[in-house]
Parts: sequence; structure tokens; C-alpha cells
Amino acid sequence: MLKKIMPDFYFHARMAAHSELKGKLFPQALSNSKPTKEWNCEVQTTRESNEIDYSDFLTELKNVVSSMCDALGTRGPLEFRIESLWMNVYNKGHWQELHHHASPNNNLSFCYFVNLKPQTDAHFFFQNDRSVNYSAAGLHQVFNLVENMEIAESTFLQVAEGDLIVFPSHLRHGVSLQRENSNRCTLSGNLLVLPQS
Ligand SMILES: [Fe+2]
Repeated sequence: MLKKIMPDFYFHARMAAHSELKGKLFPQALSNSKPTKEWNCEVQTTRESNEIDYSDFLTELKNVVSSMCDALGTRGPLEFRIESLWMNVYNKGHWQELHHHASPNNNLSFCYFVNLKPQTDAHFFFQNDRSVNYSAAGLHQVFNLVENMEIAESTFLQVAEGDLIVFPSHLRHGVSLQRENSNRCTLSGNLLVLPQS
């Protein structure tokens, strides 16, 4: 019998008030996003802007984190702190390199799909670092590891506009090439969860 070991996880939710949130956030993303030299990629971001009002989004985010905690199970009361928030706008030629958000200041990260045409816009993907070891050993050439064991080099997520994913900050991820001038927009951030003091 084949068994899988050591899986990773992410939490996939739908934001309850997406239409209202998009109405408030999307115009702010368009007017505050700029190119950045901070990352090795092409995208416009609001990372250096202090002008954006995230208050309604944070209210909804708390509900999602609470649902994730219920699903995962917690060892006791916990608190969480938002470490950072920003929005990215992708148009033709934009993409985001493979990266992670691991830091002593946060342990979870999230991505909210504010404006997205899933059929034509760029895709969010996770990279499976361990798959490289199977490739190096030639095991991918011999066995159907992707189909039968879900050991793929990368996983492109099926997401819709209004979805939000929460994932461990150390998981490597990226955004494939954007081919349309459609203002694909995401809101990302980092948070720290820890036992309540
Ligand atoms: Fe990221």
C-alpha cells in the first residue's frame, strides 16, 4: 500500500464581502501602485504607500484566520498580529519570481485575489522544493509521482476572484507571466500567530 508522508498545507477561503471590499481596495491599488526595485521581478506594488485603508479587509481576514484555526485545531488561545500588507497590480509582461516570506516577524502569509480573470490572467503557484530531489534521482522519469503521489515540481492553484489563501510563510511561490492588460490585482501580507500571552 502506498502512503504519503509530510504534506504541506494552505487554507483556501472565500471572502464574504468581496464586492464591497473590491469596490474600496481596487481603486486604491490602481492609484497607489508603483514599480519597485525591492524585488527581482516586474510588477507594480503599493508596498511603499501608507495611504491605503485596509480596515474593512482586516475585519474579514480575522474571520478567515479564525476558520483556519478551527480547521487546523489549536493548542490553546492564540493571538495574531499583522506584520505587513500590500497590493500588487499585474499587466502585460508582469510576473513575480519564486520567493518565500519567511521571517522572524511572521509565520503565516496570505494572498487575496481582488481582481482576477482566471482564464487569462497569470497564475499563482507553489513550488515543491522536495520534488527537485526526486528529479535529481531520476525517480520522476520512472514513476507517475505527479499523478499518483502529488509530488509535483509546482502546483498552480485554481482560484477565483474573491478567494483568499493563507499559507505558511516559508512555502515558496510565484506568479506566472501576465499576458493581458487587465489589472490583475492581489492583496498580500504577512502575519504572526502565537500562543496568547
Ligand atoms: Fe509572495
